[in-house]
Amino acid sequence: MTQNKLIVSNWKMNLKLSDSRILVKKIIKSSKIIKPHIKKIICPQFLLIPHISDLIKKTKICLGSQNCHYQESGAFTGESSIELLKKFKCKYVILGHSERRKYNAETNSMILKKIQTAFNHGLKPIVCIGETINLRKKNKYLEFLETQLHGSVPNMEEIIIAYEPIWSIGSGLIPSFSDILEINNFVKKYLYERKQLKKVSFLYGGSVSSKNIKGIIENSDIDGALIGGSSLNAEEILKIVSIFNFY
Ligand code: PGA
Repeated sequence: MTQNKLIVSNWKMNLKLSDSRILVKKIIKSSKIIKPHIKKIICPQFLLIPHISDLIKKTKICLGSQNCHYQESGAFTGESSIELLKKFKCKYVILGHSERRKYNAETNSMILKKIQTAFNHGLKPIVCIGETINLRKKNKYLEFLETQLHGSVPNMEEIIIAYEPIWSIGSGLIPSFSDILEINNFVKKYLYERKQLKKVSFLYGGSVSSKNIKGIIENSDIDGALIGGSSLNAEEILKIVSIFNFY
């Protein structure tokens, strides 16, 4: 049986309103090609969410946000609440992205609280983990990833993990297929055995393109991909979707 696959667009802080509308309209126009086992999820910056929500409302495309707060409401200047994200039909939320860990000083314990709150309110967390190039070179990456999983994943039924090595994001470099498979097996074993999760989906993220995705799917047993740069171009993201259609 074909397993479900998640293709997540992480637009980051990119795209003007007009460009985002053009991109989404192109994806909708081609959405007939998206096979039923594929879930296409778009994660725009906060202020684009209401607009994109309106555009995709009659389609099977899903919406996610790039962050949420761990409190429901209150004196948290500059934040946005899960309640509003849900009002605009967000179903997913990216949490623990390395850019938020770096620029917003997010820690594993903050991410844990966010995952818990998102999950309790019915948003599906897509949790990012990934090592630096130094940790990879020193062969310390598994310990580091285990620390991230240990500190940020609460006891819950189901989770989506996106493995995004920091050195791969936006660089054009990707790990070998066998390295991705190693992390896939490592993450699933850890979360099934040590945290007793019932379902773990494993996405790969970092310089995914239409040129490398076929090899990653065929050799690394992924359940989907988290895509930054390549998701900003309609032709490129649709090529990636059409490759996933075959698996
Ligand atoms: P990239 O970004 O595809 O541009 O490398 C991925 C991400 O940061 O989610």
